[in-house]
Amino acid sequence: MTFAVLSEDMELTAKNLGMFKELLYERCHLSFPESREMLLRRWITQFAEKGKYRSINDYYRALMEDRQEFERLISMITTRETYFFRMPAQFEALRDVVIPAIVDREGSASMKALSSGVPHRMRLRAWSSGCATGQEAYSLSMQILDSLRYPKAWDVKVLGTDINRDAIGLAKLGRYDSQRLGKTPSSFVERYFTVCTPHEIVVSDEVKEITEFRMLNLRDLPGEESLKNSFDIIFCRNVMIYFDLAAQQRLVSALSACLAPGGYLFTGEGEVLHLYDHSLEVLERGDAVYYRKRAEE
Ligand SMILES: C[S@@+](CC[C@H](N)C(=O)[O-])C[C@H]1O[C@@H](n2cnc3c(N)ncnc32)[C@H](O)[C@@H]1O
Repeated sequence: MTFAVLSEDMELTAKNLGMFKELLYERCHLSFPESREMLLRRWITQFAEKGKYRSINDYYRALMEDRQEFERLISMITTRETYFFRMPAQFEALRDVVIPAIVDREGSASMKALSSGVPHRMRLRAWSSGCATGQEAYSLSMQILDSLRYPKAWDVKVLGTDINRDAIGLAKLGRYDSQRLGKTPSSFVERYFTVCTPHEIVVSDEVKEITEFRMLNLRDLPGEESLKNSFDIIFCRNVMIYFDLAAQQRLVSALSACLAPGGYLFTGEGEVLHLYDHSLEVLERGDAVYYRKRAEE
């Protein structure tokens, strides 16, 4: 990217704002329609003042050169709103359709392996992409553990990723306000959480053991070779809302490439995929719409 000369004071001109927007789009695919520009203006000015930069130009330069400074702005910009078992109909589809289908597939593979004398460990991989503070990834882990008859016999891993470093730090802790358990079924609260203070509850070790978190910018997904064809289940919910149509299309294609053949993709309520080119099957169960990669792909 070329470095543009910005104003030498704290005034954020329309041209300056355009440069910040370009930087955010280029690095993270984050887009700011006019309706959100005011907000972006406020954040930029606040951070520039708080960081004691002498000018907006200096702040822009710091964002270009200093990763931590850039991440601080990203933490502010990206809304981390999330809660356990958000959109319960999707978790019901997981419980009633998706996990049983994976259990059948792995059961057949085990039988085949048995007859040919090759050992086979039943395996399930899930990914909460844009997991914020971890509630979605932990909900997936809890649902999977609860649905498997012999979870210890399985090799299960749930990955949670997000661009927001602070959010990933909190996700790893797995400590939450006990009043904010969202739509967690009460039997799950008893089984998969431990009370740690009168107001705090912590995710159990059994759940933490199968759940891993790391930072990942979804813009970089097409280059993540190790994730290709990997996941039986991907949740990417309430993340695309940050992207423009072109970036959303790239994300849908990249997520499809990360699904294992026959794998399932769950998106947010307002994020139905009919606007994009894709070859996923569209499935419905109750209020849940979700997608499946064809097994032969
Ligand atoms: C509103 S939260 C949604 C959390 C969760 N998926 C849910 O539906 O409850 C959106 C998350 O997307 C993350 N995000 C936004 N842009 C991203 C990007 N380019 N790469 C990775 N994560 C991103 C944000 O940091 C934020 O934590």
